[in-house]
Amino acid sequence: MTNSDSNRPALPPSRPNRENQTTPSTPAATKTTGKPWVLITGASSGFGEEFARQYAAKGHALVLVARRRERLQALAEALHQQHGTEVVVEPVDLSDLAAVTQLHERLRTRQIEIDILINNAGHGLQGSFADTPLADALAMVQLDIASLTAVTHVFAQDMRQRRRGRILLVASMLAYQGVEKFAVYAAAKAYVLRLGEALHRELKRDGITVTTLCSGMSDTGFATSAKQKLTPLLKLLMMKPAPVVKTGIRALQSGRMSVVPGFANKFLVVFMWATPRWLHQAIMAQAMNG
Ligand SMILES: NC(=O)c1ccc[n+]([C@@H]2O[C@H](COP(=O)([O-])OP(=O)(O)OC[C@H]3O[C@@H](n4cnc5c(N)ncnc54)[C@H](OP(=O)(O)O)[C@@H]3O)[C@@H](O)[C@H]2O)c1
Repeated sequence: MTNSDSNRPALPPSRPNRENQTTPSTPAATKTTGKPWVLITGASSGFGEEFARQYAAKGHALVLVARRRERLQALAEALHQQHGTEVVVEPVDLSDLAAVTQLHERLRTRQIEIDILINNAGHGLQGSFADTPLADALAMVQLDIASLTAVTHVFAQDMRQRRRGRILLVASMLAYQGVEKFAVYAAAKAYVLRLGEALHRELKRDGITVTTLCSGMSDTGFATSAKQKLTPLLKLLMMKPAPVVKTGIRALQSGRMSVVPGFANKFLVVFMWATPRWLHQAIMAQAMNG
């Protein structure tokens, strides 16, 4: 299935790709720092780009995955120049599940062992369920659920063989309840949170930690691509990507099951636990839709 987000440029389907490159003047897959490789999906903007910046600053070698090749390449060059870090650019449409296995195969052939997986690519859509074209809803399910599951599966198998690895799944605060006009997105993120919680226990015995990041509204390209209008409350709650990502990395490093960044978001989660469903659903619907 291909992505139907009309705000994104039409991109060719992924294919085995000889043009995927490391940054200039560095031989392929010869990481110099000794720090584990980090693969980041959705690295061309928002949280993914910020994850790349923060991991590069820590000296990690990176594999950057998203559809927009030029943005990935510009980021790779900037990070290489700034930190001297090895960066492999992988322009892949993750909605194509065959492309996920091809990506995995390419990295395996190049002997790139992914020890940290940031499963972040995703998009949302605001609108009434019945008015949203089915193709758009299914494209979201494909990327936010099927692709995330496939990426986690292929790299978790390698990690299990090496008996080490860390996986971060990016969910959302909307994972905690159904939300009017975000029905499919909230349900998809609930899947991500539940998957993460189960894998946290299941993969622990294989030496792999799984952490789920439940971010609230943040200042990325997300709202635009989800065609989301920003209510005054959302503007108030809006976080910058840097602290969200920092919180995610810290939680991943300490092997936590899940984390909610920001004081206001934490407060909201406690509020949801403490109140009946009908009440916090109504409040969340108001906060998200105005
Ligand atoms: N920002 C928020 O308020 C917020 C809140 C809670 C959760 N989240 C979650 O955070 C994650 C990152 O979103 P963001 O806020 O950083 O938004 P963003 O700036 O729109 O980034 C989304 C990333 O996903 C990539 N992507 C989209 N479709 C793809 C595809 N088919 N194949 C490969 N990559 C694809 C995009 O790259 P290309 O277009 O180049 O492919 C982009 O790099 C998402 O999972 C989102 O649900 C965001």
